[in-house]
Amino acid sequence: MNTPRLVTTAAELRPATAELLTRAAAANPARLPSLALVPTMGALHEGHASLMSAARADNDVVTASVFVNPLQFDDPADLERYPRTLDADLELLGRAGVDLVFAPSVEEVYPDGVPQVRLSAGTMGTRWEGASRPGHFDGVLTVVAKLFHYAAPPVPARFRAYFGQKDAQQVALIRRMVADLDFPVEITAVPIVRAADGLAESSRNRFLDAGQRQAALVLSKALTMLKDRAAAGEGLDLAAAVDLVRSQPGVDLDYFEVVDPRTLEPLAAGEPLAGPALALLAARVGPVRLIDNAVLA
Ligand code: PAF
Repeated sequence: MNTPRLVTTAAELRPATAELLTRAAAANPARLPSLALVPTMGALHEGHASLMSAARADNDVVTASVFVNPLQFDDPADLERYPRTLDADLELLGRAGVDLVFAPSVEEVYPDGVPQVRLSAGTMGTRWEGASRPGHFDGVLTVVAKLFHYAAPPVPARFRAYFGQKDAQQVALIRRMVADLDFPVEITAVPIVRAADGLAESSRNRFLDAGQRQAALVLSKALTMLKDRAAAGEGLDLAAAVDLVRSQPGVDLDYFEVVDPRTLEPLAAGEPLAGPALALLAARVGPVRLIDNAVLA
């Protein structure tokens, strides 16, 4: 097992990154070395391991950040409760072959407290997940912008960042931020990891009992129904997929829409797809709120 180097300040991260990239460039002078950043809030699980292996497979140097970002929590009790498991995280990151772990303190990232100037996710950040979490995506974009600055290659290199497709709205907003504000980073969305029964992996699944877990399977079934129709070039029957979810006792649907992943605006129901399309849903099952999605085109 590789032991990643742990750094806690941006001042340490830059020279450590430069050293590894310089070494990679010397080992392969014919091409530009590449650096991957995988931002996380820790409490890592198998879903995160798949992000790390995607980053490891394609890059010379892999940095993971572990930072529980207060700015993206609207409820202080949630922030307080969020698990901090750095030792276990370092083990997983070591097994995944990560080179550098950047785990700054809140004071390092926000030395003057809550920043006066923050990014706004605009209307894309106020719908779907944003509707029940006001300000959440503004906080996500603000910290991701800061992480891009801290982790950016200090010597010539390609810069890529990896996020889980499970949080499709977050991915859409980060892509939008990178395009709108010209960040020199390529964004990769890593596909959702699913259990054998189809349920999207999430740390929240452990709070489902057997019956609730069985009920939750309707979510991936409904998404598969839409995917199959999209693959066959047929018009999407979103109403039938919504009915399927609504007919499942124990599942309380919040939203289920097919949207343009570039804008998160709903697409016209029933039309054959003419461009990129993403099915997004959220539902409460027993004690947890689950989200899931499928790329349709
Ligand atoms: O997806 C997460 O874990 C967080 O929202 C992120 C991207 C690390 C920003 O804090």
